[in-house]
Amino acid sequence: MKLKLLIGAIALSATTLSNYCFSQAYPYLKPETRVLKIIEKNFTDATGQYKLMAGELAPGQFPKSYDSLSGKLETSNSGWWCSGFFPGSLLMLYQENHDQSLLTEANRKLWELEKEQYNTHTHDLGFMMYCSFGNAIKIAPKPEDKQILLNSAKSLATRFSPKVGCIKSWDSKPSDYLVIIDNMMNLELLFWATRETGDSSYYKIAVTHANTTMKNHYRADYSSYHVINYNPETGEVQQRKTAQGYANESAWARGQVWGLYGYTVMYRETKDKKYLEQAEHIAHFILTNPNLPADKIPYWDFNAPNIPNALRDASAGAIMASALLELCRYADKKEALNYFNTAQTILKNLSSPVYKAAAGTNGGFILKHSVGHMPQKTEVDAPLSYADYYFIEAMKRYKKFAK
Ligand code: GLY
Repeated sequence: MKLKLLIGAIALSATTLSNYCFSQAYPYLKPETRVLKIIEKNFTDATGQYKLMAGELAPGQFPKSYDSLSGKLETSNSGWWCSGFFPGSLLMLYQENHDQSLLTEANRKLWELEKEQYNTHTHDLGFMMYCSFGNAIKIAPKPEDKQILLNSAKSLATRFSPKVGCIKSWDSKPSDYLVIIDNMMNLELLFWATRETGDSSYYKIAVTHANTTMKNHYRADYSSYHVINYNPETGEVQQRKTAQGYANESAWARGQVWGLYGYTVMYRETKDKKYLEQAEHIAHFILTNPNLPADKIPYWDFNAPNIPNALRDASAGAIMASALLELCRYADKKEALNYFNTAQTILKNLSSPVYKAAAGTNGGFILKHSVGHMPQKTEVDAPLSYADYYFIEAMKRYKKFAK
């Protein structure tokens, strides 16, 4: 009963917030006119780029990256964890400029993606389905799209173990139970499912996963491990390690910002202060880190061995900007200003020719210079669909402060 009331209150506050006038609610967070102009140009340029990319995509294919040496677009089928970002980006751009061809292309890709609602072999259904269909229902709340999201939440929930208190990230041998920090990003779908149906089981899974992750993934300085291997029978931690970072004890940049974004969402959805504190601690680790460059675009790992010559990860910068533009709404004024100004710096720098691709180049991607999987030597210093997605999302969030 208590939970039902809480969920109702959250749903109400979400509606109220969407009608909020940000300039009145946060008068101390003022977007610069110059940056707003840059953002409008970015949306126009991004639309041109995404139309170019759409023209290169075969049916059933989704963009992953672009190899500038061969001049080839790298693609995946709908089962890859990034398949939702392209339709999601098209839908966010459509909301900006109402260019019908973006919506047509997005709908084509949504149709190719929808079978993943029944995929129980991945924990990435939040990324795949909420970043795509979640944006679609904001434009037109169709019952069939909501059903797809609900089936996706059901599929995701099958990967939860009450013994471990987490959703399993990667399937492995029976004695392993692998959970990665990235998995915090899949919880938003579960909160949506509880709001939509009133069934609190999704909410409880999300909260339990976030609590277990807070306990076991984080170090004393609020940096995060990438992978925790739990004992599937007892829930005890067997290993703390990395897969995509430099070393087991290093702070892989994208992992840090997935956590920042994830705990900010946890606070939005539950209003439990402990999640706000967690998000602020993570922000403190990132923003005071001596290895965060002046332009605020992180090196691919905060402990990469060749800093300052290590590669940057534009995707980590874009995700961080988007997360900070939400976190600043919940923080005290002084911290809020710091978060907002940092996000603004990131947006300015990602909009410069250093990171933003010239029209007609980069396989149609908006941003250059991300790092996908350094240890595997894949997608290194390359464009990535999620760098673009969170860049667009961050720009939309920034614009709201002018209204
Ligand atoms: N595994 C998701 C990522 O590369 O961030």
